[in-house]
Amino acid sequence: MKAPYKTYSTYFKLMFIISIAALFSIGCNKKPKVVCATSDNVTYTKDIAPIIEVKCFKCHDAKSYKTKASHNKIYDYPSLKKMAESGLLMGSLTHKKGFIPMPYRAKQKIDTCAIALIASWINTGMKK
Ligand code: HEC
Repeated sequence: MKAPYKTYSTYFKLMFIISIAALFSIGCNKKPKVVCATSDNVTYTKDIAPIIEVKCFKCHDAKSYKTKASHNKIYDYPSLKKMAESGLLMGSLTHKKGFIPMPYRAKQKIDTCAIALIASWINTGMKK
């Protein structure tokens, strides 16, 4: 009865080695986890305005917002702050149920780190 045991143990050892190898290869092929740069001092001028300009001004800049964004004003500090305070900004950016997803009709959210930065701007009192 010795031989089968020995075979089994060899078999399990082999399986063990294969699974470890598999785990390693999965680990190596996986995309690195998104780590967003954070800042203790997020400001509208330095951090937030540039994101809004690039991602939202196509429709929301001073010239177009009336016609292209149904008068939803977010192109300066007071207007964006107001939109953030109402909850509409984060609701739209995170595509939360009951909000109109932004960017409008893009199907995709803006990148995770940009949303995180805007959230942290709101949570730290929307500094100018
Ligand atoms: C392609 C044009 C377009 C782009 C780009 C766009 N918006 Fe809009 N946005 C609109 C339109 C149109 C509305 C009004 C939608 C409606 O009332 O049906 C709107 C409305 C909004 C509202 C109000 C939503 C509500 O529930 O009343 C917010 C907040 C907003 N946009 C934020 C943004 C932000 C932030 C970005 C950039 C990440 C952005 N939008 C990009 C067209 C756009």
